Amino acid sequence: MINEGNDRRGFSGYGHSAAHPSLALIKYWGKADSVENLPATPSLAVTLGGLKTETSVWISRSTIGEIRADAVFIDGVLQEKKRFKPFFREFRKLIGKKMPGLDVFSIKAESSSDFPASAGLASSSSGFAALACACNDAAGADLTREELSALARIGSASAARSLYGGFTSLGKEKKHAMQLFNENWWPEFRIIILELEKGPKEISSRQAMEQTRLTSPYYNAWVNDSVVLMSEAEAALRDKNLEILGPIIRKSYLRMFATMFAADPPVIYWKPVSLGVIRLCEKMRAEGFPVWETMDAGPQVKIFCTENEAGKIISRIETEFPGVRTRVCAPGSAPV
Ligand code: PMV
Repeated sequence: MINEGNDRRGFSGYGHSAAHPSLALIKYWGKADSVENLPATPSLAVTLGGLKTETSVWISRSTIGEIRADAVFIDGVLQEKKRFKPFFREFRKLIGKKMPGLDVFSIKAESSSDFPASAGLASSSSGFAALACACNDAAGADLTREELSALARIGSASAARSLYGGFTSLGKEKKHAMQLFNENWWPEFRIIILELEKGPKEISSRQAMEQTRLTSPYYNAWVNDSVVLMSEAEAALRDKNLEILGPIIRKSYLRMFATMFAADPPVIYWKPVSLGVIRLCEKMRAEGFPVWETMDAGPQVKIFCTENEAGKIISRIETEFPGVRTRVCAPGSAPV
């Protein structure tokens, strides 16, 4: 909130937010508009209760003509300005409309997550969702949930979904996400996050998506097919039927990667251990376990299952892949 305090240049505002990442069951991959950052495919996701990003924002008024000094620190490290420029531009545009007196100001943000950033664990979704909410809080702007979701989308389209708890969707070419079911709707649903590899990904999802769109002969087929998968998945989710939902989840991530593998040069996020876990999931399914894996822009594997099975699945993974870090998440809430 804004404090009309002792800042002699007018006021300074402080805001804070904590947001959970959004993990897609049906994947978004490809942009319909790279400036507006509109997704070419619809996505369906769950907000991950066990992981979070916390962000603090300070805004201070600067005088006309003074250089705006935006700075974002993640775990104390100053980030490249380019990554955040479109987001801050959009935030200023929104604020300009709602609060005409606050059109020139500087922003400083400090963010940290309780899970590794930029490693394919969806840190950009919780990161931009928390940033949008903390900026809103700092300015006292009262942006609506839809406005916040659309603002977060400018930074990272998956972040639009992190503005809502439970199960969410972001439609094809849509500006903001929506909630399909809240976090209490399927209480037995669990997500096991496997941290298989440390270190940042080799190519950003933004760059990889463009490479796929421009060079993969399968890209259009992927975009068209994802609409079909989305409606099948929504129906299975409505019935809380993991037996039907699971194979659709698997089709979505494997078809997404098939388009990436076919790009030129190919985009390959997988590591040998990722494939090892995929094979283990296949084996467990053959033994009757309802386990369904997915992957994102990185080597980590995430597994969907029910609460009853989570313990058995984890001990199996720990036996076959000693040293792998596992975390179990239930569907999480909206940012606070
Ligand atoms: O929102 P971005 O740019 O981090 O891209 C997310 C892409 C995937 O994680 C692979 C899929 C998704 O829908 O979250």
